[in-house]
Amino acid sequence: MSTILIETRPARPADAPALAEAHDESWRTAYQGLIPGPELEKLITRRGASWWETAIRRGSRISLLMFGDEVAGYTNYGKNRAKSLPYAGEVYELYLKPEYQGLGFGRRLFTAAKRDLAQSGLTNMVVWVLSDNEPAVAFYRALGGRTIARSTERFGTKVLDKIAFAWTR
Ligand SMILES: CC(C)(COP(=O)(O)OP(=O)(O)OC[C@H]1O[C@@H](n2cnc3c(N)ncnc32)[C@H](O)[C@@H]1OP(=O)(O)O)[C@@H](O)C(=O)NCCC(=O)NCCS
Repeated sequence: MSTILIETRPARPADAPALAEAHDESWRTAYQGLIPGPELEKLITRRGASWWETAIRRGSRISLLMFGDEVAGYTNYGKNRAKSLPYAGEVYELYLKPEYQGLGFGRRLFTAAKRDLAQSGLTNMVVWVLSDNEPAVAFYRALGGRTIARSTERFGTKVLDKIAFAWTR
């Protein structure tokens, strides 16, 4: 019998190639048919291993969900970027490879990010999600997020609606 360790931990520079791969796979499946193809390609291509390595070395907060030696998913987070919203923290991204979705790992990554933000004094937080990304909208609702704002984002010629969910503790 073998035992597989499942844990969340901060990303290290050596994780950059595996992180780039997890980003590529998860974004491709989440956004195919939603974000126009050429725009999606651009978003994925610009996030190669060197982009991730630089982000990690600069101290961006990135947590990984490790399934044994494999990067199953990641979340990155920090200060809220939308100054018009009265929330201190923000989860910028939270993505799992398709084969690791629906197993409770999203909740685990989200909880780790929220705890880490709270420990640095960012006790309330927001997440933006595209309205048409229905599984993600359902996920954030299941985690107790409250809708607090709506906006739009342009991807090439397509404009998509997005929703901000908030948590106060
Ligand atoms: C969205 C995502 C992060 C959720 O992670 P996950 O591991 O699949 O979700 P979990 O198994 O931890 O589920 C946590 C809760 O959300 C609910 N949930 C998750 N996906 C759901 C879905 N598609 N429909 C309805 N509820 C859902 C679960 O039922 C669970 O609720 P419960 O604890 O009350 O039973 C993951 O599916 C993913 O990476 N998707 C693609 C990328 C993406 O869209 N990221 C978000 C961009 S903002």
